[in-house]
Amino acid sequence: MFFNGEFMPRENVQISFEDRGFQFGDGVYEVIKCENGQALALNRHLRRLKRSLDALEIQIPSELDFAHLTRRLIKANSLHDGLVYMQVTRGVAPRAHAFPENVKPTVIAYPMPWNNPTSAQFQQGATAIIVPDERWLRCDIKSLNLIANAVAKEKARRAGATEALLYREGLGVVEGSSSNLFAVIDGTLVTAPASPLILSGITREILLELAPGLSIPLRTEVISRHELLHDAQEAFITSRGIAVLPLVAIDGKIVGDGTPGPITQQLANAYKSLIDEAENLEAI
Ligand code: PDD
Repeated sequence: MFFNGEFMPRENVQISFEDRGFQFGDGVYEVIKCENGQALALNRHLRRLKRSLDALEIQIPSELDFAHLTRRLIKANSLHDGLVYMQVTRGVAPRAHAFPENVKPTVIAYPMPWNNPTSAQFQQGATAIIVPDERWLRCDIKSLNLIANAVAKEKARRAGATEALLYREGLGVVEGSSSNLFAVIDGTLVTAPASPLILSGITREILLELAPGLSIPLRTEVISRHELLHDAQEAFITSRGIAVLPLVAIDGKIVGDGTPGPITQQLANAYKSLIDEAENLEAI
């Protein structure tokens, strides 16, 4: 486990109750997938981490090398397949809303086990419900304030669904509580454009880069609830952990013929091949 500049066993980590991450959710995080002992798309994750830190004006010490610490964590824990969780908060200060001066950020990073969805789970597909998006207006910052996401996911769990898709009034279904949403409508792949209203996932970015090479027509537009429920031939969600997971029913309505569609399979295979064939997984 990495904590404030040192590697140590997790039981030695002590974090103050006045840490602003604890009291205000004042911090950011990344979840990085590790395969074959390498951090997938590490460069993209670290760029996004920097964007999140800059957006919240959290300054990290110049000597802190996230790439180095990720590699060291993977190696020290012999992590072959799994996740690395990384979090930076503004630091510890007496409770007051405005940003404190001269505060030192709290940095933690540690490996986590992860079970990839099996090919049976892929074939079976997942279900989702649509719930109101109750998050703030800067969802592009990967902030620790995940309460609205947690509430949405809990609604999905209680409904027996895998994911809660977030519906913003007047706009449409923007993404999932912890995933990005894609649909295939009239043969065109559709997903919300990068904007402050979604977290532009790394898996999403990679799929958008793969689609033209597969001659899949693409449109970045928020999917209306009506389109998703009535016009979508295929739908799927993406994140580092699940990669590409088909949705076979949304709000109880069957998507397409209720099995993973051809474009979903094509993209899932292309994503898998990209990883299988990459020489440097950190740079994909
Ligand atoms: N969540 N949208 C939201 C709201 C997310 O929380 C996530 C990921 C994504 C997908 O991003 P990526 O492809 O970079 O994993 C989209 C992580 C996994 C989490 O909070 O655990």
